[in-house]
Amino acid sequence: MTVKNEATPDLKSGKSAKTPDDYAKYFQPPSLKDAKKRGKEDIQVHYDFGIPEEMREIGKGKHYLIRTYGCQMNEHDTETIAGILEQMGYESTEEYQEADVILFNTCAIRENAEDKVFGELGHMKVLKRNNPNVILGVCGCMSQEESVVNKIMSKHAHVDLIFGTHNIHRLPVLLRDAMFQKEMVIEVWSKEGDIIENMPKVREDKTKAWVNIMYGCDKFCTYCIVPYTRGKERSRRPEDVIAEVRDLARQGFKEIMLLGQNVNAYGKDFEDIQYGFGHLLDEIRLIDIPRIRFTTSHPRDFDDHLIEVLAKGGNLVEQIHLPFQSGSTEVLKKMARKYTREHYLELVRKIKAAIPNATLSTDIIVGFPGETEEQFEDTLSLVSEVGFDSAYTFMYSPREGTPAAVMEDSVPEEVKKSRLHRLMEVQQKSSLVKNLAMLGQTVELLVEGESKNNPEVLSGRTRGGKLVHFNGDKSLIGTFVDVTITDAKTFTLYGEIVAKVEV
Ligand code: 5AD
Ligand code: SF4
Repeated sequence: MTVKNEATPDLKSGKSAKTPDDYAKYFQPPSLKDAKKRGKEDIQVHYDFGIPEEMREIGKGKHYLIRTYGCQMNEHDTETIAGILEQMGYESTEEYQEADVILFNTCAIRENAEDKVFGELGHMKVLKRNNPNVILGVCGCMSQEESVVNKIMSKHAHVDLIFGTHNIHRLPVLLRDAMFQKEMVIEVWSKEGDIIENMPKVREDKTKAWVNIMYGCDKFCTYCIVPYTRGKERSRRPEDVIAEVRDLARQGFKEIMLLGQNVNAYGKDFEDIQYGFGHLLDEIRLIDIPRIRFTTSHPRDFDDHLIEVLAKGGNLVEQIHLPFQSGSTEVLKKMARKYTREHYLELVRKIKAAIPNATLSTDIIVGFPGETEEQFEDTLSLVSEVGFDSAYTFMYSPREGTPAAVMEDSVPEEVKKSRLHRLMEVQQKSSLVKNLAMLGQTVELLVEGESKNNPEVLSGRTRGGKLVHFNGDKSLIGTFVDVTITDAKTFTLYGEIVAKVEV
């Protein structure tokens, strides 16, 4: 088995600094313990990404297929992986039978996400038997977990390649090795890598674009695996983010989604400048692009300067996703969220005062170890008090290696399930109230495409991110229209077109 770890990347030549034999000496499986370490060393930014010359044609006449699981960060990573593969000559396909390279870009946030991937990997055995030349790879957050890598090595030996979230830029070299060595190639750096700029991207959507502003997370909420799988917080330089947004504006994109595990912590790692997320937004809003969103926020870093900048409106749309996780200060303490219920409510009050029509959404976990009925009711009451437009609700899922996984948990599974249902009921009522309040209003939509359930109908999103269906000509896709809201349901709105908007 050839295992590569902590190899020095040589981006231009594609040569690794160590020989295959050396790798055996450097073999370390991915280690969550190492991933927890936060070093003081500077993060380098590399601008010299390029596909090594001898690999630029390697995929000519061949096809790739990427299955993506999880969050928008992962979907955006898939766009980068696709960009790299296309620069190597590969073309995309949706057909497994046609694919020469199949990659699973995985998510580790909850157990059911992992179960799905293992199920799919099992199905790939037959495909691999029928076509031994297909390269099957696993990347994304699961590949950063030692238990996953061990399981793949022991039970899914038909996998050819495992690479981590910090190793995407190494794909050309790894793919070549996987092709020619016929052994499982594993390269997972447990310590985060540097920031690699200028990687190619294949953007799926021609209207909306994701832009990473930072990588990693240093919050270490006790239930969460992300700080281990994505490494320490590293912000892209403002000039690089701004240049990318400008370029997307020039290409005609209508909406930008700025991405980070915790965007409000943007810039905290800069040592040479005092520059935070508020400063970044204040510059980006001057770029000629109609809509700018961001996700996701942590209540702790959401400061007054940011609220002040958001209140300027314009192309900074009034949608705020602000996970609160639990309405009980005691549970928040056990989660290491480092804010109280009162602090969260005060923050929401400030946001509502500064941005009165803000659409608010959140993430909530029920059944955290030891959560009492009373503590759960604090969550219900917070939901009612704030009146969120929508919420992502989750049942707590233990993640090996995180502090919460070893906390004593006396809450029976049935109780957790019933709490999830009770929470969803309360939230759905709130969503309906919010949507009903929009009846009769005329709102601006960015038309995204045909409705998923009815191709005769078009769908678009309001500035607040709400989905609206309406009848209209397909030529409107990718443009802005005004619609009057005529019907409101819990998850969707219906409208009638009033006018096309010139932006
Ligand atoms: N169990 C359940 N939900 C989780 N989340 C993160 N980790 C876990 C876990 N171990 C949820 C949080 C987070 C969202 C992205 O996923 O609510 O905000
Ligand atoms: Fe996970 Fe907390 Fe970081 Fe969000 S802020 S990614 S929940 S550790």
